[in-house]
Amino acid sequence: MKSIKVIALIFVSVVVGAVVTFGVMYLMNNKTVDMIRNNEELFIPELIDVSSLDEDFIITADKTEFEFVEGFKTDVLSYNEQGYLGKTFKMRKGDTFNPILMNNLDEATTLHWHGLETNGMSDGAAEPNARVYPGEEKTYNLEISQAAATIWYHPHALGTTASQAYKGLAGMIIIEDEYSDSLDLPDIYGVNDIPLVLQAKKFDENGNLAYGHHGMMGGTGMMNRSNMMGMMFEDGDGSNQSTTSGFTIMSNGFYIPYKEVRSEVIRLRLLNGSNHGIMDISTDTNDKINVIATDVGFLENSQEKDFMEIAAGERYEILIDLTSKEIGDEVNIIANGQQVLTLKINDDTDDDFDKPFTTNMISTLAPILMYEEYTGQATTNTFVLDNDQINGKQFSMNTIDETFTKNQIYYLEIDNISNKHHSFHPHNARFLIVEIDGEKVDPKDFGWKDTVYVREGHKVKVQVMFKHTGLFMYHCHILSHEERGMMGRFEVID
Ligand code: C2O
Ligand code: CU
Ligand code: CU
Repeated sequence: MKSIKVIALIFVSVVVGAVVTFGVMYLMNNKTVDMIRNNEELFIPELIDVSSLDEDFIITADKTEFEFVEGFKTDVLSYNEQGYLGKTFKMRKGDTFNPILMNNLDEATTLHWHGLETNGMSDGAAEPNARVYPGEEKTYNLEISQAAATIWYHPHALGTTASQAYKGLAGMIIIEDEYSDSLDLPDIYGVNDIPLVLQAKKFDENGNLAYGHHGMMGGTGMMNRSNMMGMMFEDGDGSNQSTTSGFTIMSNGFYIPYKEVRSEVIRLRLLNGSNHGIMDISTDTNDKINVIATDVGFLENSQEKDFMEIAAGERYEILIDLTSKEIGDEVNIIANGQQVLTLKINDDTDDDFDKPFTTNMISTLAPILMYEEYTGQATTNTFVLDNDQINGKQFSMNTIDETFTKNQIYYLEIDNISNKHHSFHPHNARFLIVEIDGEKVDPKDFGWKDTVYVREGHKVKVQVMFKHTGLFMYHCHILSHEERGMMGRFEVID
């Protein structure tokens, strides 16, 4: 009897404690949201056209300040001292690009090219010498041999990936090819072809990014597991990393910015650059979303949707047809119920339009050619996702967990047996989804992928070919999971 009372008492105090903590956090976040600068013009990172560079480009990783709250400087990280995030690089299939990373931080970092098929030495992750220490630099040798896509770059040094990405180190890459040339899509960068990096953030009472503050994170970026506040900030509600509730969704570093546009078709290149979470994207005007590209390439046919989902690490290119709008009309992009961007129509003249088409003129994009016809008979490498581990193992920099041969076809089965959702991402890969939960699916419905969101208890099988040799990582793109060990190394051999 006595022990029951004690248990009951403990239970009550835990519940009360949790309610108070969550309540305080909720109020704090709400109060903070009001202070965050909003309704400013969407920030468009500068576009660097790699094809026309005649010198190697230096990408610096810098400690910078950013005013999320007017008049209050927050310590963040950015590339090329941009203030937050990094420049957008535009490349063409066939280009070579030899960027030099200069590390001006006080901890190691790397550059990883998420979605790029590249050699292991330049992938910026699994090679033992991938880390670039403070004050040092490294040259990456990138040969762009893949199809048009929206990919991105971010740091990938063991132990600091999550905190550096959270503090602002990320940028977009646009790859063009013969299809993107011929499709006549909106392609005026920053005008009708708009990069949109969506990130779920939390701010403390001073407008600082609530990650790595107040001793929640050690200097190494490794999380203190016993620190509940740290868990909450990093993972949403501490258990379900799929949600962004309680977080503020920022667009290119700003809160509900606006973009003035013409009444034409607008292309948005969406990147979910959050450390965790899936976002449900729609418009507040019930204007349709036309999905034209997934992570690493065009769909074969555009898909018209009322809403779409984008998980951490994923990209989608979408078109929104504003041709019937009038001056003064506004269309809000909504992510998980929050306004994230207001498109304000400020010009509805119909002469001298750059791309005078409507979305129903572009249903055919680029062919999706599978590596081989899928029969369901092929051999398969399995990746069992459990809490903080893959195939029963936690990450070790001393092991090579899988070996593949270059230019051979493989099937990877990603089997989530845990009670959480995960976002599986192998480097150096463009894959196609062939089965979900044991049922064959049409890969053309999902397009070219490099990251796949697998909900608890589900499994997904993909067809892949690795075209470059070297050492690479596969991991969960919920970055706190990755840092707690949900990552492995693989080698691609000749
Ligand atoms: Cu976004 Cu290991 O990558
Ligand atoms: Cu990657
Ligand atoms: Cu995960």
